[in-house]
Amino acid sequence: MSGDIRSYRGIEPQLGEHVYVDQSAVIVGDVQLGEHSSVWPLVAIRGDVNFVRIGARTNVQDNSVLHVSRISEGNPDGHPLLIGDDVTVGHHVMLHGCSIGNRVLIGMSAVIMDGAVVEDDVIIGAGSLVPPGKTLKSGYLYVGSPVKEARPLSQAERNFLPQSANNYVQLKEDYLLHVQQIS
Ligand SMILES: CC(C)(COP(=O)(O)OP(=O)(O)OC[C@H]1O[C@@H](n2cnc3c(N)ncnc32)[C@H](O)[C@@H]1OP(=O)(O)O)[C@@H](O)C(=O)NCCC(=O)NCCS
Repeated sequence: MSGDIRSYRGIEPQLGEHVYVDQSAVIVGDVQLGEHSSVWPLVAIRGDVNFVRIGARTNVQDNSVLHVSRISEGNPDGHPLLIGDDVTVGHHVMLHGCSIGNRVLIGMSAVIMDGAVVEDDVIIGAGSLVPPGKTLKSGYLYVGSPVKEARPLSQAERNFLPQSANNYVQLKEDYLLHVQQIS
């Protein structure tokens, strides 16, 4: 099953093998989604004025919005959106022109702005705001608006990051088999 996938200026989204894109999600333009990733109800991913790259086994949960910033005189690359492997993007998250590493968990309703960099193995608490250009260091929990470094992640939390991604790989396998449109 795949959602509302649209080309923009002749560029079509590229979806990897075994992805799940909910029927109500919209993906437009220069967007690549890696294998075994999943995009849940009411997500919008817009690769129009720049590109979006999403790695493997990453999940983008319900109602999240992913967009980019255009190239301008003072910013020759603009801000594409880069998301690594095994990332959990919680419900209602806003990701705009930022760079997210591997094995990151982004809590529900977080906002991450242009030019922010989230290194590998980070948890961002629900409702956090990551301001433009800020770097979040690998191995730490960040919470708040604007985010502050809270503490290093425990080993259990580090172990949970790929587990969370894998839970969603299993869930999307189940959806691929068992979700049916009935009206
Ligand atoms: C931040 C988080 C990881 C919990 O961390 P934690 O250290 O176990 O938190 P605790 O419950 O021990 O609380 C520690 C303090 O942080 C506060 N806190 C917890 N979550 C917070 C958040 N998202 N933002 C700000 N403060 C938060 C607690 O109120 C507590 O404050 P206190 O010390 O003044 O009482 C968790 O609350 C969270 O936001 N998880 C994201 C879950 C999610 O959205 N998943 C994706 C969808 S499935």
